[in-house]
Amino acid sequence: MTDLLQRGREYFSSQFGAAPGGLWSAPGRVNLIGEHTDYNDGFAFPLAIEKRTLVAASVRADRRLRVASSSFPGVVEVSLDGLDPDALHGWAAYPLGVAWAMSEAARESGGPVDGLAGMDLALSSDVPAGAGLSSSAAVECAVALALNELWGLGLGRQQLARIGRLAENRVVGAPTGIMDQSASLLGEPDHGILLDCQSLQTESIALGFAGAGLGLLVIDTRTSHSHADGGYASRRRSCEEGARAMGVGSLRALGPADLPRAAALLDTQTFRRVRHVISENQRVLDTVATLRTRGPAAIGPFLNASHVSMRDDFEISTAELDLAVSSAQVLGAVGARMTGGGFGGAAIALVRDSDARRVAEGVAQAFDRAGFAAPRIFPVTASEGARRES
Ligand code: GLA
Repeated sequence: MTDLLQRGREYFSSQFGAAPGGLWSAPGRVNLIGEHTDYNDGFAFPLAIEKRTLVAASVRADRRLRVASSSFPGVVEVSLDGLDPDALHGWAAYPLGVAWAMSEAARESGGPVDGLAGMDLALSSDVPAGAGLSSSAAVECAVALALNELWGLGLGRQQLARIGRLAENRVVGAPTGIMDQSASLLGEPDHGILLDCQSLQTESIALGFAGAGLGLLVIDTRTSHSHADGGYASRRRSCEEGARAMGVGSLRALGPADLPRAAALLDTQTFRRVRHVISENQRVLDTVATLRTRGPAAIGPFLNASHVSMRDDFEISTAELDLAVSSAQVLGAVGARMTGGGFGGAAIALVRDSDARRVAEGVAQAFDRAGFAAPRIFPVTASEGARRES
């Protein structure tokens, strides 16, 4: 972390010619279970990871916003007066989209939008992009926290999560839910965040992995995914169609007892999409209940069943993700599943500490035998959410 802080400070100075006024950071996330449930008003159970995005920021005397990212060349500059959500593109759409969404929130709460100062923002990150670990939410949440403080808006973390989602939906054009931003803002060390995406209530649940001699491995397949592309949006549409046909506002209103009626009413594909969401919501609740009663070593079957549901019913897995999961399972993982939106990205495996190295090596060998590019495999631990660093 000190390394990222140091890099972030130096990068800001190299771009803007002065030391930054402050540093803020926000983490990526893995989702332990509860996939494609957030936009269905359902349950999800993600955790923030130790890989973080840093934003170094300084207030300006004028109304210019300048953003730089150590992952991309050049500085993007716009005026706060002409912030047009339709005119923001590429990587800068994330930080500037958040600035736009925050100024909208300030306007709605009757704040002095004309009084918001310009800003220099420099981003640097340890969160791998395109791996399904929410590098985009990490950017959004770090910037949201910094602007909230520097603009003196006093917005709460759940509001900041909604602002991040609005930036992603409206500016980036990805119809995603609230999970990633919630995990990045609300994460706690050694805890998962149980999200009820209907009431927007959240609860920190102790994971107890370390005490049980367990750890989480991320297997980044290095196959890319983008949620601004078709697959994610088409799954979301199927869910909305399924809910409409079943006469409910969202799939959250349905439970396992509704499945026979859904099977009779829906075409087979929509039925399978709906069955995934209904069963996944139940698996989130079962996972949390099992953590509490029997401990983390007992949650594996829910992780494994979640993957099968995403592979067969929701059809968002890939050959690489399936191999990551099946090889980890064969090598003795307690449980494994793809994580995130799917169509590429990463899988997670819950493993005994004593097995971690063997599982990692064996999965890499399985990828090699299959002729797939070498995966990037690394441990993650549940970590603190967005915070001011200095
Ligand atoms: C992406 C989205 C989230 C969520 C997941 C799937 O990460 O950003 O809102 O829908 O996919 O669970």
